[in-house]
Amino acid sequence: MDLKQHIREVPDFPKPGILFYDVSTLLAHPQAWKATVERLKDLVSAYKPDVLAGIESRGFLVAAPLALELGLGFHMVRKKGKLPGKTIPYTYDLEYGTDTIEVQDGAIEPGQRVVILDDLLATGGTLAAAVELVRKVGGEVTGAASIMELTFLKGRERLDIPFSSLIAYD
Ligand code: PRP
Ligand code: MG
Repeated sequence: MDLKQHIREVPDFPKPGILFYDVSTLLAHPQAWKATVERLKDLVSAYKPDVLAGIESRGFLVAAPLALELGLGFHMVRKKGKLPGKTIPYTYDLEYGTDTIEVQDGAIEPGQRVVILDDLLATGGTLAAAVELVRKVGGEVTGAASIMELTFLKGRERLDIPFSSLIAYD
């Protein structure tokens, strides 16, 4: 199955001149979505995770079914202020300003092998920050995966972990 044909391309979103790759149409197609999860399962199991982490918000769509398929738990990496209880933050630089992501304290145990999931790798800034956050709480990031990758933005060059994607745009 050609997964790329199930990604809708929306011009000028969210800003003029940007071509947005919309995962909604892939999610809406049961066979294509099933094939996506099955292929990601193969990629992710190669990293031998103990636990998965999904990046808010579209990364949750990827992490949740994979956690079920692999028989693992998953943890939410969220923007600041969304998770209850004690949280561990990680602040990173954006083009203008900074952003902070968090996980719940105690969610990831020191030494656990963690695989991080998102829907899309663009500049790699979001994923690189999630890697640092998992390391901050003592997890070992053994790999990461996404459905789509904008290879022309060279996000992989910002990563120091193995990374796999299913659909490349170059
Ligand atoms: C998008 C996408 C990735 C990130 C990739 O999320 O879902 O998480 O950007 O960009 P980067 O590689 O340049 O960091 P977005 O911030 O739009 O939020 P959402 O997932 O909540 O829609
Ligand atoms: Mg996102």
